[in-house]
Amino acid sequence: MNSGRYIAFEGLEGCGKSTHVKRLATRLDAVMTREPGGTTVGSMLRNVLIDPANTSLSPRAEALMMAADRAQHIAELVSPSLAAGRHVVSDRSVYSSLAYQGYGRQQDLVELKRLNDWAINGVWPELVIYIEVPTELLLERLKKRELDRFEQENRDFFGRVAAGFSQMAADDPAKWLVIDGTPPKDELEKIISAAVRERLGI
Ligand code: TMP
Repeated sequence: MNSGRYIAFEGLEGCGKSTHVKRLATRLDAVMTREPGGTTVGSMLRNVLIDPANTSLSPRAEALMMAADRAQHIAELVSPSLAAGRHVVSDRSVYSSLAYQGYGRQQDLVELKRLNDWAINGVWPELVIYIEVPTELLLERLKKRELDRFEQENRDFFGRVAAGFSQMAADDPAKWLVIDGTPPKDELEKIISAAVRERLGI
């Protein structure tokens, strides 16, 4: 049996990626999942990671918990699904750690890449769909929500994360698909679908 394809969506909070994760996963009859929190253990880690009450979490502890969530996610769900021939569509992936813990929290990118490559046993997404929305617009959208620990970060932090995503996309254009996230949902869904067909033939 052919292996399934592993597709990840990336983007800042409020960019609308969760909607398109659902829509693409439905079209492909794929396993729909997310990081952090795609497994039972991962949900527990997610609660710790996003809880605004955890004000003193160190950047290294945060990076290790994200990597632990991801190690469990790959071992328990992603790799077995791919091996069984199922496509996997994930809301975030290892690239979020490079963007948030690396560019955002300014942890060493080489170390983070090594740590995460080990955590995921070398299973990186084959296609990364980055939904790009101007940071100012996202900050406006966040004003309407109750904020989690990451969403409470400042403009500079989100600016670094956005710059990190753009840099990674520019460095590896064969893997990254940069999608302008400002058109209406239905239009965006068509654009994403067509791009996935063109890149992966599915
Ligand atoms: P979510 O709101 O998109 O589900 O993600 C929860 C938060 O976790 C989000 O603010 C981004 C952050 N995050 C990291 O900082 N590093 C990671 O590796 C992942 C997967 C998410």
